[in-house]
Amino acid sequence: MIRKPVVLITGAGGEIGHGLISRLATGGDRAVITLDVNRLEPTLARLVQREFVGSILDQALLERIMSEYEIDAVYHLAALLSTRAEFTPLTAHQVNVEGTLGLLEFAQREAESHGRPVVFLYPSSIAAYGLPSLDGKRRAGRVAEDAHNTPTTMYGCNKLYCEQLGRYYARFYKQLSATPQAGRVDFRCVRFPGLISAVTVPSGGTSDYAPEMIHAAAKGEAYACFVRPDTRIPFMAMPDGVEALLRLAAAPRERLTRTAYNVAAFNPSADEIRAEVLRAFPEATLTWKTDEKRQGIVDSWPEDVDDSAARRDWGFAPAFDFARAFHEYLIPTIRERYAR
Ligand code: SER
Repeated sequence: MIRKPVVLITGAGGEIGHGLISRLATGGDRAVITLDVNRLEPTLARLVQREFVGSILDQALLERIMSEYEIDAVYHLAALLSTRAEFTPLTAHQVNVEGTLGLLEFAQREAESHGRPVVFLYPSSIAAYGLPSLDGKRRAGRVAEDAHNTPTTMYGCNKLYCEQLGRYYARFYKQLSATPQAGRVDFRCVRFPGLISAVTVPSGGTSDYAPEMIHAAAKGEAYACFVRPDTRIPFMAMPDGVEALLRLAAAPRERLTRTAYNVAAFNPSADEIRAEVLRAFPEATLTWKTDEKRQGIVDSWPEDVDDSAARRDWGFAPAFDFARAFHEYLIPTIRERYAR
């Protein structure tokens, strides 16, 4: 039996997966297969060659996928986000760390079997940082990848460690064996800021106040923001997030000087986001009700990140700044979505 060359997306039904499936299925040269614990929406399912429903922790399922498909690239998006992970840290570790380790090993074995490197795209997060205090956060300003790697959340610890696991597979895997095996997994990682999509709402994250505010206003629902008005972290419009993954995947290997790259587009305060939402939906009821514990998590994340390495090495260039993200993407797309 000849196995078919494809791209695998895990967590494909999630927020990033939504945009990525459409781009890969319509623009890419290889068919897409997906793995998610839930069924894909019918509009997405139509775009993929095969949809596997199940857990990334299910070894038998991964074996089955391996027996049928030759995988050239993995976009490993499945994860429990930062708020949810604080309620179930052991499950978060299983899914976020053991799940990722299983996928890295899966990619290694795929590469060994077809003889080509498997490009492994991994979304990390600003949660990989941990600023010591609000004052320290203000003083740190735009943080570089290697600074402040002291996350306070289970999710952040999971992401930071998996960045290191990826680097290990790419550079040092079984370094003492007679036949070195490193480099078969071509691990490439983007440290995302908060992502804001016009077509989906996040679940279980701590940067969710921004998308929740926008979607609630568009639906005519009142919303009480769970962080203080002055809260500031970096964000990005989802199309730029998807584009970043695709661009990093396509970059020539020799251009890459790091395994994990910061990316960001704008960093408004929660109050500036609210003002922009109110300009579009003047009738909206947007109030403040700080959740001190979730606030603590957001306060430990940087107010901005230095993404000069991504710009230099693989041409990262977000199309949407704060104004364009709202006026040309979020507001028109969200209006259309809820008008239906
Ligand atoms: N958006 C994510 C979260 O809030 C951060 O990566 O958990």
